[in-house]
Amino acid sequence: MRLENKVAIITGGGGGIGRATALRFAKEGAQVVVSDLQEEKGVETVHLIKETGGDGLFIKTDMTNPTEVEALIEETIKAYEKIHILFNNAGVSSLEKKLPNVSLEEWQKVVDINMTGVFLGMKYVLPKIQKGGSIINTASIAGIKGQKLVAAYSASKASVIALTKTAATEYGRKNIRVNAIAPGIIDTEMVTDWKKTDKWPILSTANALRRIGKPNEVANAVLFLASDESSFITGETIIIDGGTLNI
Ligand SMILES: NC(=O)c1ccc[n+]([C@@H]2O[C@H](COP(=O)([O-])OP(=O)(O)OC[C@H]3O[C@@H](n4cnc5c(N)ncnc54)[C@H](O)[C@@H]3O)[C@@H](O)[C@H]2O)c1
Repeated sequence: MRLENKVAIITGGGGGIGRATALRFAKEGAQVVVSDLQEEKGVETVHLIKETGGDGLFIKTDMTNPTEVEALIEETIKAYEKIHILFNNAGVSSLEKKLPNVSLEEWQKVVDINMTGVFLGMKYVLPKIQKGGSIINTASIAGIKGQKLVAAYSASKASVIALTKTAATEYGRKNIRVNAIAPGIIDTEMVTDWKKTDKWPILSTANALRRIGKPNEVANAVLFLASDESSFITGETIIIDGGTLNI
């Protein structure tokens, strides 16, 4: 019970990584507020939490909307009194195309969700999170290596890494830790379309472990960063990519 008596918010909690983390957190004793733009999927995550004896609730939130993000924080405090953990995880991928072919609208959509959404999550939770609290932002290895054909995605995820360091530096004195995770290819809905392409056999084995990751393998790292086991780690980005960046 590594998160006993802790209250955690998970954005993008209806999706693969968010759901796996929500279930993991609940098993470790946390009360989990599952947030997502997609109500049905978020409610299903809460249903799964309750089925396994955990405690949680769903709050529909568009992470690009400041009023809704502020309400997510306020409603969580109303329901559970405190907030100890934010997993700032909602995100979308870019359509694959070379940089000059990316329209301003496409660029802004991805940046709004992946970068501004993470900013808004931290903006509204930092003044309210408990001392000793932990924020984990979802970046990507694309934000480290600058992946070809996904300019907006790569740039937005690099920003998440920078925002993580800024917040960690500003809030360290209050003993609030802020870290990021940078997953490689993980088996969620986000990679469904890639699976249909002929480059999938190469893409899915292009790392030291020769396979893609499972959402639960990401959840384990998030749990470590959320718990007191990582009490002297802040401003860091943990890479969870089966060794993709090493080959
Ligand atoms: N799957 C991968 O290979 C991979 C790799 C690196 C990073 N990531 C990142 O992991 C995070 C989780 O993605 P996933 O792989 O679980 O994919 P997913 O598509 O299953 O989950 C993403 C969730 O975010 C939600 N969402 C999208 N826009 C939102 C918004 N404006 N407000 C609130 N919720 C919103 C979606 O409804 C969805 O439930 C994302 O930030 C993604 O960029 C994924």
